Amino acid sequence: MMDRPRHFLSLPDLSADELTGLLNRAIRLKQLQQNHQAQQTLKNRILAMLFEKSSTRTRVSFEAGITQLGGSAIFLSPRDTQLGRGEPIEDTARVLSSMVDIIMARTFEHEKITRLAKYSSVPVINGLTDREHPCQLLADLQTWLEHRGDIRGITVAYVGDGNNMCHSWIHAARLLDFRLNIACPENYDPDTTILQSAGKNAGVTRDLMEATSGVQLLVTDVWASMGQESEQNNRASVFKPYQIDADIMKAADKDALFMHCLPSHRGEEVTADVIDGPQSVVWDEAENRLHSQKALMELLLLETTV
Ligand code: CP
Ligand code: NVA
Repeated sequence: MMDRPRHFLSLPDLSADELTGLLNRAIRLKQLQQNHQAQQTLKNRILAMLFEKSSTRTRVSFEAGITQLGGSAIFLSPRDTQLGRGEPIEDTARVLSSMVDIIMARTFEHEKITRLAKYSSVPVINGLTDREHPCQLLADLQTWLEHRGDIRGITVAYVGDGNNMCHSWIHAARLLDFRLNIACPENYDPDTTILQSAGKNAGVTRDLMEATSGVQLLVTDVWASMGQESEQNNRASVFKPYQIDADIMKAADKDALFMHCLPSHRGEEVTADVIDGPQSVVWDEAENRLHSQKALMELLLLETTV
């Protein structure tokens, strides 16, 4: 058990240098894994994974990741833990952290994961909240690095809801000093404080073409996130003008890439020809969840990215 655990609740919990080191380590871990050179850097470490919402990628990548590094994982959901019957998150944090080495949690309210971290004696990782999805950015930034190199100085367009993914992209823009054009409909802007924290690195427009013309990377996300299912129909009409299709890709840089955290709704936020087309790197993003989170767990547990 650590005295003062280091958490990863938000992308800026890492410095720019740490983030760059982590991404390079992730690429190295990927090579080692592909060469069947097993690493045992987290031997016997136990990860607890607490999910209030559904997941495919986050669950599998964390469980596979800690196992590949010599440790093991325990999956917990409110449906079969006392958390679902009203046991306070503070008590859950104290108990879990007395038994495991690291905790990953996916909660609705961001405030809940900050409380979990406050009362945990081991590192806590944000596996998505309503406000942020920092682990996805580790994978996305690794994917850019692998395909195109340094992200500094480029222009990225984020199209759609000013949601958890948008917030983490804003954090990335400030940390790694690239420009983020955000195209979203009125009333679906990102959080003002997060947006302002990025200064000139991020800005909002209602004009999809203005945001995306000539950019090197286009990113989008679902129109209705988990927990917003009842708003699906209304959102479908509001977001309709914000679809990424072949014309939008054509107006971007000729070497532009397309990213989506997945799961996606083909025919809504993106057309099938784009997400399944040659500029899409969505499967690399998904795979890189595995490698970048292995590097993250090493950093938090070993305080190193070597
Ligand atoms: N992108 C992502 O977090 O996917 P899951 O919801 O499947 O974990
Ligand atoms: N914005 C989406 C991301 C899913 C990975 C959601 O919160 O449901």
